[in-house]
Amino acid sequence: MNAPTPKSAFTAFPPRLPAVPRGRVRLGSDAHRTLMCATMLTTHDPYKPALIDWPKLDPVTQNRITSLPIWDIAVATEGRASMNVSTYAEGIADPLLKSAVEMNAFEEARHKLVLGDMVQAYGIELVPEPAYVRPRDPEWAFMVTGFSECIDSFFGFGLFRIAKDSGFFPPELVDTFEPVMRAEGRHILFFVNWVAWHRRKMPLWRRPWFALKVAAVWAFLIWERIDMAKGLGDGNTRAEESNFTLNGSKELGVEIEFPELAAICLAENDRRLGVYDARLKRPKFVPGAMRLALKVLGKGKLLAAQA
Ligand SMILES: [Fe+2]
Ligand SMILES: [Fe+2]
Repeated sequence: MNAPTPKSAFTAFPPRLPAVPRGRVRLGSDAHRTLMCATMLTTHDPYKPALIDWPKLDPVTQNRITSLPIWDIAVATEGRASMNVSTYAEGIADPLLKSAVEMNAFEEARHKLVLGDMVQAYGIELVPEPAYVRPRDPEWAFMVTGFSECIDSFFGFGLFRIAKDSGFFPPELVDTFEPVMRAEGRHILFFVNWVAWHRRKMPLWRRPWFALKVAAVWAFLIWERIDMAKGLGDGNTRAEESNFTLNGSKELGVEIEFPELAAICLAENDRRLGVYDARLKRPKFVPGAMRLALKVLGKGKLLAAQA
């Protein structure tokens, strides 16, 4: 089954957005739900992929961009995200939450369109897309996409910064992809708040089950990444692409050691997520793991330098 197109994925803006709650907001409260949904809906950027004027690149730059081993997996990831998120949205009864999750699905489908247009504009050859199968457990699928984005966006923010600063991406292309990066920041912000809200709204007896489900999603994502990395050297493109997260700076023509890369990712993560309402929860797991790794490696001063 194909991923839904943006038009079909998002149809129901709430007729009137609720007022953003004032004062302290308790996690799991109705005010928390309103704040996270209102943030998602009011920060939406209504750009239209069809109106993007893909900049003409010089042959060297175009070759550099088209030979990055990320485009197949990027298109497939957006397609799967759109399917997973829109399927979860279908089962939500609360109109405001439903609209916010539909918005998330709409934006994933739009990312896929942007990438598809770029692939066409620059003559990038893709392997055939996988089938986007409707998930049997929509909550599980939504969580797989959400936590997966928490990992990928964290590193994506840093690598995008490196590509921008090194000139690997020309400024026009940076401008074109900036709204996509901004959207991913909003998605992970919304997702971690949904997890906190959802957990607190469920009856006490369901919470241990939900905690197990969260742990199982993380185990699945770690296994998936190890499995893909194991395929390296077998001409396995998926593995090369997944490994891009780790070796991405090299692919971008910049030799950066892990501690510097982690510090740049942390600084970008804080900068991008710092602009939203401070009462919302921020993703903690990946940034926390990276901060810990830097301290263990004795590179704590890099954190201070990037702050
Ligand atoms: Fe996306
Ligand atoms: Fe996303």
